Amino acid sequence: QTLLKTKRIGQVMKYIESCPSTQIIAHKLAQEGTADGTVVLTETQTAGRGRLARKWDSAPQKGIWMSIILRPDVVPQKAPQFTLVAAVAVVRAIEEVTGLKPEIKWPNDILINGKKCTGILTELQSDADGIQALIIGIGLNANQEVEDFSPEIQEIASSLKMASGKEVNRQELVRALLFHIEQFTNIYIEQGFAIIKLMWESYSSTIGQPIRARMAKETLVGIAEGITDDGVLQLRTADGKLHGIYSADIEMQN
Ligand code: BTN
Repeated sequence: QTLLKTKRIGQVMKYIESCPSTQIIAHKLAQEGTADGTVVLTETQTAGRGRLARKWDSAPQKGIWMSIILRPDVVPQKAPQFTLVAAVAVVRAIEEVTGLKPEIKWPNDILINGKKCTGILTELQSDADGIQALIIGIGLNANQEVEDFSPEIQEIASSLKMASGKEVNRQELVRALLFHIEQFTNIYIEQGFAIIKLMWESYSSTIGQPIRARMAKETLVGIAEGITDDGVLQLRTADGKLHGIYSADIEMQN
C-alpha cells in the first residue's frame, strides 16, 4: 500500500483471498459509509458477475478482480461516463505495464488482437439526494494460459500473458490501474467529459466501423458514428437514420 502512487483511490483497500464477488462486498461497504476511493481486491471469485447478468470467470491468482467505490458529486445520469473514464484508464495502464496496444469495444470491453481481456461493470447506489456510490468492477485477465479458458471462451477471450508472451506482475498492474483511474477521474471532474470522450473514441475499435448491434428485440446493421455524452452509441443505418444504442452486443462487420 505504501507503494501506491495515488492520493484518493486505494487509500482504503480491502484484500480478500476469495469471495463470491467483489461487487457484493463493495456494495456492502458503500452502504456502511466507506470512503470515496475504497478498493476491494480478491484472488478469486466464486460468483463473479458481468454485464447483462452474465457470469464472469475469475480464475485464482490469474487476474485482477477488483471493485472501486467512488462517491462523485454528480447526477446519476452521469454514471455511465465513469465507465468510459475507467475504460480509458485501463487501456493506459495496460499500455504502460505491458507495451501492448489494447482497444475499447463499446461499451466497455477492452480487447487485444480482437479478443476480450478486460471487462468493466459499473453499478450505482443512488437516492433522492443523488449518487451515494458508484461501484466500478474491473475484471482483467492477466496471466491465464490458453488452456485456462474453455474452448468457447478461447474464441473470444485472451489474457495479457497470452498476448505478450510474458508473465505480468499483477501488483504493478494494480498500481498502474489505480493511478490512471485517479488521474482520469480527476481530469473528468476538473475538465468535463469532452477530453475523456475524445480519448475513448481514439482507443475505440467500434467508432467509424461497420457493425452489427444485437439487441433484445432487434438487430441493427450500420456504421458506428460515435458516442453521446451519455455513452450512448450512435449507429447510422443504410437508410440514413441515426439510432441511439443503449444496450447491445456488438459485432464487427467485415
Ligand atoms: C463484463 O461483463 O464485461 C464486466 C465484467 C466485470 C467483472 C468484474 S471482476 C471484479 C468485479 N466483481 C464482479 O463480480 N464483477 C466485476
